[in-house]
Amino acid sequence: MMAADQTLAGVPPSLSAKVVGSFAYLTVRDRLPTILTKVIDTIHRNKNKFFEEYGEDGIQAEKQTISLLSKLRNELQTDKPVLALTDGLPDTESWNQYLNRQQRLQGDQESVSWFKSAWLYVECYMYRRIQEALLLNPPISDYDVFNEGKTQSFFESQQAVMALCTYLEGVKKNIDGLSRNQLFEHFNKLLLVSLWGNKCDLSISAGQENSQKTSPLDSLNSLQPFILVDDSSMVWSTLISAQKPGESGKTTADRVDIVLDNAGFELVTDLIFADFLVSSGLARQIYFHGKSFPWFVSDVTANDFQWTIRQTMATNHKWMSKSGFQWQTYLKEGVWSYHDHPFWTQPHEFCDMAADAPDLYATLQGADLVLFKGDLNYRKLTGDRDWDHTVAFNTALRGFRPAPLCSLRTLKANVQVGLQSGQGEKLTSQDPSWMTSGKYAVIQFYNSKSE
Ligand code: F6P
Ligand code: MG
Repeated sequence: MMAADQTLAGVPPSLSAKVVGSFAYLTVRDRLPTILTKVIDTIHRNKNKFFEEYGEDGIQAEKQTISLLSKLRNELQTDKPVLALTDGLPDTESWNQYLNRQQRLQGDQESVSWFKSAWLYVECYMYRRIQEALLLNPPISDYDVFNEGKTQSFFESQQAVMALCTYLEGVKKNIDGLSRNQLFEHFNKLLLVSLWGNKCDLSISAGQENSQKTSPLDSLNSLQPFILVDDSSMVWSTLISAQKPGESGKTTADRVDIVLDNAGFELVTDLIFADFLVSSGLARQIYFHGKSFPWFVSDVTANDFQWTIRQTMATNHKWMSKSGFQWQTYLKEGVWSYHDHPFWTQPHEFCDMAADAPDLYATLQGADLVLFKGDLNYRKLTGDRDWDHTVAFNTALRGFRPAPLCSLRTLKANVQVGLQSGQGEKLTSQDPSWMTSGKYAVIQFYNSKSE
């Protein structure tokens, strides 16, 4: 597709709403304004709550936030230039520098704007501007405008969560007696559950309910044909070859990092998988990476992470609450830890991480395996560019190689690399929306050491 930054040698342009009718165009024209309208409605509906908590100041803040967000929606819909941020937060400068970078790539002829510039950049920018509107209105600065949807998605998937916790309990009961093959089977199942958990995000549905009602374990076989790249055996062998004796005398891989995506059902599938990795002795420690402010409607913040574990503990389903208590214990003992870094809520492609967030890059280098959940992480891994489908994943990563890594992603944006020759064309003829419907998925792995 086309875009502004055609100057980067050998690298295809970023996807952009500039291409009328493209998925990026439809997102910027339809989905983003719908999300903004819902945010405005949510704030308005909570007016009385703000009044009860903060009196007149709460009402003033509600009005001013809505006015800033309406202005933002108007800027977007009329393709106004992207404005510098003014809220003076630690990341403000970096966002403004990134705007300058976009302008340089685009040249001076026209301003960086919603429909003319890189889709990844403007979509991320919208969430940062929502954050700015709240932050400029102190009594309600901490209000999470997406909280209602995230908690609803958790409650609506209770049956599926109970089924998964019951399955996990069964696996753990017999874990010591399992053969390596049996262990691999459970590993594979729970990896797939975490993969398909990514169907349930609220950004693609513009905030419309999108939860998992039935046990995902029952559908894994029927979903298998929709996995376009399946590198799960490489993920497994990476973990196995990382096994070494630790201080406790147990032989495990040292650390697996999970770069989280959505709260609600998907987060539970990630916690279940992480629990399995630790309780089976495949990994000693798990780092979860989440967002430091509400992002892409349903992404996990520290608050969502803690809340989900508390809710899981508080149910009266025996195995579900047992899982919740176990997760709380992992956190207390430091076996699990939650990390957020401002880079995850910035618009950069991940190939920029080593230069622009060297501390985060160094942290990831300490992992034996990094799992990147979801579509947005895939867009950032590949730079959200118009790659040919047959380009190698490694090429699209453009030097991003902190550790062996794997993307677990259902396809919701039109970027996909690492396919067989002709595979993309065949899919397009059979199902034109294959890249954006969330029906297809990839388990795509890369390890620079195995080259
Ligand atoms: O375009 C679909 C979209 O809204 C993208 O902006 C984003 O990549 C994706 O949905 C979010 O999906 P996920 O939660 O899997 O990252
Ligand atoms: Mg998401």
